[in-house]
Formats: sequence, structure tokens, C-alpha cells
Amino acid sequence: MNESAVNNLVTHQQPANEPTQHTDNVVLQGRALNKQYRQSTEQTGIVLHDIDIDVHAGDFTVIMGASGAGKSTLLYVLSGMDQPTSGEVYYQGARIDTLGERRMAQLRAKEFGFVFQQPNLIGNLTLLENVCLAGYVAADRDGGEVRTEAERLLERMHVAHAAHRLPSEVSGGEAQRAAIARAVINHPGMLFADEPTGALNRRNSDDVLDLLSELNRNGQSILMVTHDVRAAIRSNRVLYVRDGELLGEFPLGVYRPDDAKAREISLTAWLSDMGW
Ligand SMILES: Nc1ncnc2c1ncn2[C@@H]1O[C@H](COP(=O)(O)OP(=O)(O)OP(=O)(O)O)[C@@H](O)[C@H]1O
Ligand SMILES: [Mg+2]
Repeated sequence: MNESAVNNLVTHQQPANEPTQHTDNVVLQGRALNKQYRQSTEQTGIVLHDIDIDVHAGDFTVIMGASGAGKSTLLYVLSGMDQPTSGEVYYQGARIDTLGERRMAQLRAKEFGFVFQQPNLIGNLTLLENVCLAGYVAADRDGGEVRTEAERLLERMHVAHAAHRLPSEVSGGEAQRAAIARAVINHPGMLFADEPTGALNRRNSDDVLDLLSELNRNGQSILMVTHDVRAAIRSNRVLYVRDGELLGEFPLGVYRPDDAKAREISLTAWLSDMGW
């Protein structure tokens, strides 16, 4: 992909005369994705095997599976943090797995948001500064506008009271809520989350999940890896990965809090069928 196509992509314009995948409202697409690591013993480890995946705009998709199944690898390959050994990744119809590191970094900064198990905030910056930095780094945005939005987001993430504290001066839950604010400051087309509640207690975990649900209700597309059924039921559908293969999909429909118990029961039964 040439420079203008990436610029078009990051400014949401339709690229002209560029090879694209027909997508309708598919925002992210993986085709025949394989990932293989060459190990020191000269044996090769197949981590992803022929995975096809479509994420539609506004989807909240969850990936589940046993430890080592390849969930994080799939998320990294789809988000450009890692490259597939073979196969193709498309974002808004444009192929992205062949972008160079600099173009990919630009695309990630502008179009993708990331939340991990650990908040990974910069230790000598306040929560507010951490969120602002992501806004400054990404693009040609006005500094004052970024700051106003960062303050608004911290408020929405219920952590405004700690905006001027360092990460070491807040709880794990507060830091994670700031990390979500940082992830969405640039209005990403895709929000990727790898076990975002994995290090949180039940109350903080529920808070973070409420925020993700709210973002999704407002149209945010989300792809989340989790081990936690309580987290998975927030999604519209759960994909199950075993030994690098996509084994099945469980549709959940739109999340409503009064449905939570029934969703938990049906998802748990399906996961058990999948061998979880
Ligand atoms: N850099 C690497 N080199 C070699 N093997 C790797 C590398 N990264 C991951 N793997 C292997 O790939 C497989 C899948 O790893 P991955 O991290 O995707 O699993 P996961 O499903 O996210 O597991 P978990 O639930 O424990 O986070 C594992 O067997 C892992 O050991
Ligand atoms: Mg993982």
C-alpha cells in the first residue's frame, strides 16, 4: 500500500484505485492466517492454523480458549503488533499486514486502541498526561482539544478524581480505567483488549466491563480475549480457539444486564461442549 492509501485510511477517506477486499460493513478481516514460530530445537511450532475471521463495525467479539491456544497471537496478528507467517489482514477493506513498520505504527496509533492485562501507564506521568500523550502522538490534533477530551474521558471512566495522580498513587482498577481512556482518545476504529480484567478484583472488573459495554453501545467495535465468562457475556459473540484453530462461534446478541445470568449459563454450556 502506498503512502496516500494509508493517509486515506487514517483520515477515513475511500482509497482510490487501491486493491481492496469486498467488505460491506466488515471493519477487520483475517484470511487464511497462519503463524509459525521456528524454535531453537529446529522444530516448528504452529500457533495459528488457517484462521478466517470477520469483525463487523459495532461488533463486540470475544476470543476464548485454553492457555496457549493462540488467542493473544491472533489478536496481535490482527492488530499489526505481529505479522502472520502467511495469510492476509484487512482493515476497512485495505490490506495492512504488508505495511512497513512505520506505516503500521501510524495506523495503530490513529486507528487502533489497545488495553492489556496490565495498564502499562508511563510511571512519571499523571493519568491525565498519559491519556493526553496518546492523543498528541497519534495525529495532528489540537493540544487543547486533546486535553479537554482526555478530561472528559477520565470523567466518563469514573477516574477524574485521580487525573492528577501518578500511576503509583492509584489502585489497579483506577489505572486500568485510565488505560481504557488512553485507548479510546483517538476514537479508534477497533479497540483490542487482551484479558483487560485479568488482574482486577470482581468490583473493578465489573466497572471495566461496564465501560466496555458502554463504549460498544455507542458503536465502538471491540475484539477482546478473555478467560472470564463474566467478561465474555458482554460480547455479541464468542469465538473458540483450540490449538490455533477457530473451532466454533457462539452468538450472544445484544448484552442486557438483566440477561446476564442466562447468558452465563448458556455460554458455559457451549464452552463445555467445546472442551473448555
Ligand atoms: N515468540 C514466541 N516464540 C515461540 N512461541 C511462542 C511465541 N509467542 C507465543 N508462542 C507460543 O504460541 C502459543 C500460543 O501463545 P499465545 O500467547 O497466543 O496463547 P494464549 O492463548 O494467549 O494463552 P494465554 O491464555 O496463556 O494467554 C503458545 O504455545 C506459546 O508458547
Ligand atoms: Mg494470551
